[in-house]
Order: sequence, then C-alpha cells, then structure tokens
Amino acid sequence: MKLSALGYLSCVHCSGVLELQPDHVALPDDNSEVIAGTLRCRSCQRQFAIERAVPRLVDEAVSSTTDIRTGLTFAQAWKTFPRMDERYRRQFFDWVNPVDPDFLKGKLVLECGCGKGRHAKIVSECGASAVFAVDIGEAVDVAYDNVGRLPGVHVVQADIENLPFNRDFDFAFSVGVLHHMESPIKGFLSMSSKIRGDGSVCAWVYGLENNWWIIRIINPVRLAITSKLKPATLKVVSFLVAAPLFALCRWFVLPWKAARQKFHQLPPLFYEDYLAYIARFDFTEVHHIVFDHLAAPVANYVARQYFETWFEEAGFRQPIIRWHNRNSWTGFSSHNPEIMSSMRSKLEPDHSVRSELQRPSNPVQRTG
Ligand SMILES: C[S@@+](CC[C@H](N)C(=O)[O-])C[C@H]1O[C@@H](n2cnc3c(N)ncnc32)[C@H](O)[C@@H]1O
Repeated sequence: MKLSALGYLSCVHCSGVLELQPDHVALPDDNSEVIAGTLRCRSCQRQFAIERAVPRLVDEAVSSTTDIRTGLTFAQAWKTFPRMDERYRRQFFDWVNPVDPDFLKGKLVLECGCGKGRHAKIVSECGASAVFAVDIGEAVDVAYDNVGRLPGVHVVQADIENLPFNRDFDFAFSVGVLHHMESPIKGFLSMSSKIRGDGSVCAWVYGLENNWWIIRIINPVRLAITSKLKPATLKVVSFLVAAPLFALCRWFVLPWKAARQKFHQLPPLFYEDYLAYIARFDFTEVHHIVFDHLAAPVANYVARQYFETWFEEAGFRQPIIRWHNRNSWTGFSSHNPEIMSSMRSKLEPDHSVRSELQRPSNPVQRTG
C-alpha cells in the first residue's frame, strides 16, 4: 500500500479517517510502500489489517456472504490464470466504449472488481492521476503482484457494496462484475455514490437478451456441477470444453464471419459476434473465459430496460447504453453534460439493436 492511498481510504463502518499505526512495516528500499500494518479508524476505533501490501477493508459482518463466496471462487480463477496479455487493452476499450484513452487522462479512477489487475494497468498507462483497484477476494494478491507497484495504482481489498472511500472519484467503472453480485443494482448505486459532482460512471454486464441458451442449458450445469468442483478439476473440465470451442471459433466462426463481408447472402451464425470476438485470443485466454463461466457461483442476466433504471436511480439522466457483441450491455453516464455530448458523438448509431430485441418479461434472470 502506497502511503499516498491514505488520504482516500475511509472506514467501512462510519466513513471515519483511517490512520496508519506506527508499528507498520515498509519495503526496505521504499518506505512509502507499506507491506504490513494496521489502519485504525479515528472515529470508531475499528482496525483493519494491511497484509501482503494490500489494505484489507472487507468486513465479513456487513458484506453479503454470497459475495464473499464469489470472491473466494474468483480468486482461484485468477490464481490459476494470473497472466497479463497485451490484447487486454483493445478488449477493455471495446467493453467500456465510448470511454477511450483520452477520457482517462488526469482522472482519479475507481475500478470495482479488479480481478488480476489487468484494467488498472491500462487505466494507469493512459495517464489517470491514480486508480484504486478494488476486489472483494484474494484476487487482490494477484492484482498486487501484477500491478501493485506501478505508480498511481492502489490495490484495495473491499466490497463494492461497502466501499471504503469518500465521494472523491472522477470516474468509477466495473467490467464483468456487478452481474456476479447478490444485488447488482446495489453494487452499481454504491460505486456511483463515490464519484464527485461532475463525475462519470461505466459498467458492463451480461445481457438477458440473446442469452437464453446460457441461462437454460449452461447455467443449470454450472450450478449443479461445475461451480462446485475443485479448481484443479475445473481446470481440466474447462480445458475439455475450451478446446473444441476454440477450434470452432478460430477455424469456422471467424472465417464464416469474414466470408459474410463478401457474400451478403450468407446468414449470420448463432452467437457469431461473441464467438468471433473470442477467436482473436489465444487458447489460454479462451480456457480462462470458459473456466470463469463455469466457476461463478452467481450470474445475473440483466435486461436493457432494467439496466437503464440503475442509472436513473443513481441520479443520471439518459445514460448511453450499448449492446456489446449482441449478448451484453455497456452503460455510460456522466453528470457533466459536455462529457455526455462528446461521448454520444463518438458512438455510431446502432439502429439494428432496438428492432432485434424482444422485450423480456423479467427485468433480470438470476442463476445461482
Ligand atoms: C469476472 S471477474 C472480472 C474481473 C475484472 N473486472 C476483469 O475483467 O478482469 C469478477 C471479479 O469481481 C469480484 N467481485 C465480485 N463481487 C464483488 C464485490 N461485491 N466487491 C468487489 N469485488 C467483487 C470477483 O472477486 C472477481 O475478481
């Protein structure tokens, strides 16, 4: 933990100021990097540990037990697949589009659910003034190893629903996380409450639309079997699923999609956008994607209209909602009207979206 993080952290219980106790241990060659110690709240006197250089600010008494369990499961996934990859940059900006590198420059950023830290790295490289990368589980240990020593990157173990920060951030984002929470909307409202007056927020979540086959076919298997397997067993099982999937994507879906650019009469394949998208990664990444899907204890599938109401409840007007790979939603909004109009101007209109979508009867489908 960098000493400079101290000014931003606050008590999970009472939002009081956290003070670093004098008996802490810093790195021998850098006394601004605290690797062990205690933070004590000046108001309520509660104490929080700093272990393996990460402040541990999850209080099991207030966080959802389901979310803590989810954090444990994902930590296994990150420990199994800790690798960083240059291709994450493009993937990140595809997910958070219309957010782009320029937007991040100089901003104080909060990342909710950082996993192994791959996005905190990108945000920092784009010139953010600092990024706080938060995760509920021991994923933070993997994140710290990957990015914890980068300038301006702060890794914190915390629960999105009980964030140990004040309203300081210019931008808060969450990629692939809220749908794994017990209450995705509460997570969204909590992260939105940490941005300052003219700040912005962005989230990417699984869509309810177009995912019927995952909800009805894959998820029952995930819930009954795969989410209960030991990581080593799941690694083998997910390998066996990922191998034919990878072959299908690389050698059939991708060429088919390319052929459709020339021969317009060819029909699109089922789930083509997503399958062609993951075909660009290598096998290890596809293996990880499958592992993640099969391991998650909870997955919520969010309808577009319901997603929009999260933004309204958080006090944002007219968010930009974008259908990503025809199976998920990215939402962006800002309290700053200039940012909103510049973001809108960056997006190409996708007229196909509304006509293709059928209105689902439920706003969200929870599995797990
Ligand atoms: C699918 S991973 C995505 C991680 C990262 N955003 C990425 O794309 O690389 C979901 C992450 O969210 C974390 N998470 C789930 N619920 C959380 C919560 N309530 N608070 C903080 N992190 C949470 C998990 O521990 C896990 O690392």
